[in-house]
Amino acid sequence: MKVLGVFALLAVAAVTRAHEPVQAVFGHHAKHLDLTRDLIGLHRNLTSIESISGNEKHVGEWLAATLEAQGYSVEKQVVEEEPLRFNVLAWPGASAQDARVLVSSHIDTVPPFYPYKYDNSTTNATIFGRGSVDAKGSVAPQVIAVNKLFSEGKISPDDVALLYVVGEEIGGDGMRAANALSLKPQAVVFGEPTEGKLVSGHKGNLMVQLTAKGKAAHSGYPWLGRSAIEVLVKVLAGLMELSANLPESDKYGVTTFNLGKIQGGVAANVVAQDASASVAIRIAEGTPSFIKAEVVKVVHLAVQSFLEDGMKPEDVVDIHFPSAGYGPIDIDHDVPGFDAITVNYGTDIPNFNLTKQQKRYLYGPGSILVAHSDHETILESQLWKAVDGYQKIILHALNG
Ligand SMILES: *[C@@H]1O[C@H](CO)[C@@H](O)[C@H](O)[C@H]1NC(C)=O
Ligand SMILES: *[C@@H]1O[C@H](CO)[C@@H](O)[C@H](O)[C@H]1NC(C)=O
Ligand SMILES: *[C@@H]1O[C@H](CO)[C@@H](O)[C@H](O)[C@H]1NC(C)=O
Ligand SMILES: *[C@@H]1O[C@H](CO)[C@@H](O)[C@H](O)[C@H]1NC(C)=O
Ligand SMILES: [Zn+2]
Repeated sequence: MKVLGVFALLAVAAVTRAHEPVQAVFGHHAKHLDLTRDLIGLHRNLTSIESISGNEKHVGEWLAATLEAQGYSVEKQVVEEEPLRFNVLAWPGASAQDARVLVSSHIDTVPPFYPYKYDNSTTNATIFGRGSVDAKGSVAPQVIAVNKLFSEGKISPDDVALLYVVGEEIGGDGMRAANALSLKPQAVVFGEPTEGKLVSGHKGNLMVQLTAKGKAAHSGYPWLGRSAIEVLVKVLAGLMELSANLPESDKYGVTTFNLGKIQGGVAANVVAQDASASVAIRIAEGTPSFIKAEVVKVVHLAVQSFLEDGMKPEDVVDIHFPSAGYGPIDIDHDVPGFDAITVNYGTDIPNFNLTKQQKRYLYGPGSILVAHSDHETILESQLWKAVDGYQKIILHALNG
């Protein structure tokens, strides 16, 4: 009884301490902040709210409210009116525009939603749920890191602003909109799952949509038609060969093509009139315009045998690049005490207009390998380690 009682008391004391808000009063601005240190609670609350890209409103409202309750000034920057989607900009000082360091991540997730689960039956408590890694696993430690730095007097209110954007997983409309906020930090700290390492760069990205234009006919008389599927198969074979022959780089390795989506045709006994494919290219070397030119060359060559008199390649296949794309992105990694890695996924970094003088860092807990999976999980210990990591990076960005 007695022993149990003591344990219970200890447990309660520990919980109370973790949840107790830290008071921080800044004489300069006479601003009163009630900064939470409850990392796991903040992460749980964020991860519990479904925020699949397009439906970020609720998590945005919650995040804005909690930051406001802690004493931050908050602006909701509308990115889309209907359905309402907005970025959350928060700053503890006089103005976000004067903040020297911007700390940022995204609040949308990929589908489908998996509910939050905290499992502390193992030595290292494990947290499950969509977004637990990507990227609420970055958002919560970022807020706690900034709160700790303020409450311990290591930074002042005008040093840092927080920016949480929508739409990272669907092309970055949130971060592109954030360019209009006129922020001019000397450094931006981006949060994404990097396994606690500092990312020295990531591959570039280019999307291609191919639409083959066929002519329907009876399958017994295929010479009367033109199979859009046959056109597409040839085109895709050409692209697969191209992907093996593009320049490599020591830093990023090889450029990869993912033939991620293909559709076409109506039945086995009909020559297909329509077929289309979407390809994602992760660029290791060279510019998107170089890759685009190579793609066009290969596709046009691949369709030669389908061209009847007077026809141009464009008459049998349409090549569409939905966005400009971008080449490999080099990222600052000059903070001492971190391992550096390169990653193959895209981020919001190219969507935010930065000059060469403005530094950019990419860091966060958890692995990209589980991030978009049905078993997205993070260890509680990784979240705490990230709180330390973000503090080091922010201090380096301010003073280094
Ligand atoms: C999380 O949400 C609960 C329920 O609304 C609230 O009591 C708690 O204070 C929140 N914790 C944090 C750290 O936001
Ligand atoms: C484990 O989690 C349960 C449920 O959240 C909680 O009641 C318990 O105090 C936790 N134990 C430890 C050791 O954190
Ligand atoms: C699990 O926890 C133990 C004890 O706290 C720690 O030594 C170990 O590094 C942790 N493992 C992982 C994978 O974090
Ligand atoms: C950001 O850069 C893009 C591409 O160069 C440009 O189109 C856009 O106008 C810029 N936005 C701002 C606010 O500077
Ligand atoms: Zn992400």
